[in-house]
Amino acid sequence: MYRVNTSEKGKRYFMDQSFFIRDIPLYGDLILSPMAGFSDVPYRLICQEFGMAMSCLEVVSMDGVLWKNKKTLQLLNFSPVERPVSFQILGNDEDKLAEACRMIEVFRPDVIDINMGCSVSDIAGKGAGAGLLKNPQKIGRIFKKLTTILRVPVTGKIRLGWDHKSRNYLEIARILEDNGASLIAVHGRTRSQLFRGKADWDAIAEIKHMVKIPVIGNGDVQCVADIERIKQHTGCDGVMIGRAAVGHPWIFQRKDREEIAYSKKIKTIQRHLSLMQAYYGEEIGVILFRKHIIKYVAAMPLATEIRPRLVRCRSSAEIMELMNSHMDRIHEHKAA
Ligand SMILES: Cc1cc2nc3c(=O)[nH]c(=O)nc-3n(C[C@H](O)[C@H](O)[C@H](O)COP(=O)(O)O)c2cc1C
Repeated sequence: MYRVNTSEKGKRYFMDQSFFIRDIPLYGDLILSPMAGFSDVPYRLICQEFGMAMSCLEVVSMDGVLWKNKKTLQLLNFSPVERPVSFQILGNDEDKLAEACRMIEVFRPDVIDINMGCSVSDIAGKGAGAGLLKNPQKIGRIFKKLTTILRVPVTGKIRLGWDHKSRNYLEIARILEDNGASLIAVHGRTRSQLFRGKADWDAIAEIKHMVKIPVIGNGDVQCVADIERIKQHTGCDGVMIGRAAVGHPWIFQRKDREEIAYSKKIKTIQRHLSLMQAYYGEEIGVILFRKHIIKYVAAMPLATEIRPRLVRCRSSAEIMELMNSHMDRIHEHKAA
């Protein structure tokens, strides 16, 4: 049984599926990018309420899983209402990856995704994450093995190549499809670009044109118009939104920041904060919420005034009091 989209007020309405990941239907075309430190259970639940089509968990390392590291396994928590759920794993060894994927499949994800985009030197330099893009044959062996032994569909999230001299995205996409991958998500940058420069949507279009499996476009989607532009430009089946969705879950309702009334923002902030406290505990929940609240207020009037005060708050009452008094300040500022 799969979730259908839920409106902001919690009313359920039915949508046709946008596409399938093998036999898993996706209702909607917008997905929160997996983002270590951000796409945790509380924020995924918020984004789901706003129409996000699939829950992509933060990446875990193959070794962390094999060593049964407590923190690694905690990252694989998800709520029973989050479906479909995609686990993401990174590693550089096909046998160990296979063993780790078998272990995490027991937690019943709908999909397992292989990270081929992580640019962190310690990881990519050791041949995992974006480092795998240097070894297309190994990618082929990994996908062949995983798609043979796992019950769930296996997908891949890639960058365009290691650097501008080795943009091998078409070769990688071909290998992924030929070895059983059920979807490719493409961040339109090379590893050496990190997050700099413009994402190359032409390259995403080339991949989409070449393969039959669904393709997700990712990179430089900042607003609702960008969602429609990347879809038009690339023909991609879905869009992954990362940084622009932090502090702005309304993007999954195809609404821009300016369209959201302050009172609505306050309600969502309160709900997000209470989910954080329920999940992490009262004190840690508030501390971890600081990186989110900064983004919620980013484009608000007088944001520079409130930001330094928000990051010093130690309780939810303090945060909400500050937000409410800020609403009054904004009204005064507008009236002046
Ligand atoms: C803080 C942060 C953490 C990230 N963590 C992951 C991750 O765990 N797995 C992954 O595949 N990509 C990760 N990414 C990359 C994003 O998923 C995405 O591909 C990238 O940010 C480009 O999309 P955007 O322009 O919409 O942000 C991360 C990005 C950021 C900024």
